[in-house]
Amino acid sequence: MKLNIDIATPSKQEWLDAVMEDFDSFLQDHLDCERKASAMAMSFVAKYPDRTEIIPELIETAIEELEHFQQVYDLMQSKGIQLTHSIGEDLYVKALIKLCHSGRQERFLDRLLVASVVETRGAERFRLVSEAQKEPELHRFYKILWASEAKHGHLFVKLALNYFTEEEVYPRLEWWIERESEVIDQLEIRAALH
Ligand SMILES: [Fe+2]
Ligand SMILES: [Fe+2]
Repeated sequence: MKLNIDIATPSKQEWLDAVMEDFDSFLQDHLDCERKASAMAMSFVAKYPDRTEIIPELIETAIEELEHFQQVYDLMQSKGIQLTHSIGEDLYVKALIKLCHSGRQERFLDRLLVASVVETRGAERFRLVSEAQKEPELHRFYKILWASEAKHGHLFVKLALNYFTEEEVYPRLEWWIERESEVIDQLEIRAALH
């Protein structure tokens, strides 16, 4: 199933270098991203309880993200890395959400497509992290996550197609892929997922 076309701009080498130089900080942020991904999937259930066709897959996704959270947490525990008390604002997701339409139907489509582009970027970055990892365990771990987030990138487009036509979904998805590239390009490079 390939529903999301790929990201428009690949992540920079500088980003990967920053992550590999301070992998502990990256793990802290990654952990938080998994928690937020789980919450985001459940927020669709809370905001759109009448969209019953997609609720089972949203719950399943939320559980998967929480499992990722647990796996990253276990990994951090094994490395003796503590949870941080507060994590910085997610400027990336915030900038994307700001671009969403405000009408109920349009916003529903936009939120699904934002979820898709965020997951697709996550997949691209986990692939880069996996390939750069020297530790076999971490290499494997990020490879599994890469596949899982790529699947989520497609899933949110599939969910949108339950309620919108291909003519409504795909041009808007392309628009979002362009915006996502602009937003990620403007972010300060740090040892974090975004
Ligand atoms: Fe995840
Ligand atoms: Fe995901």
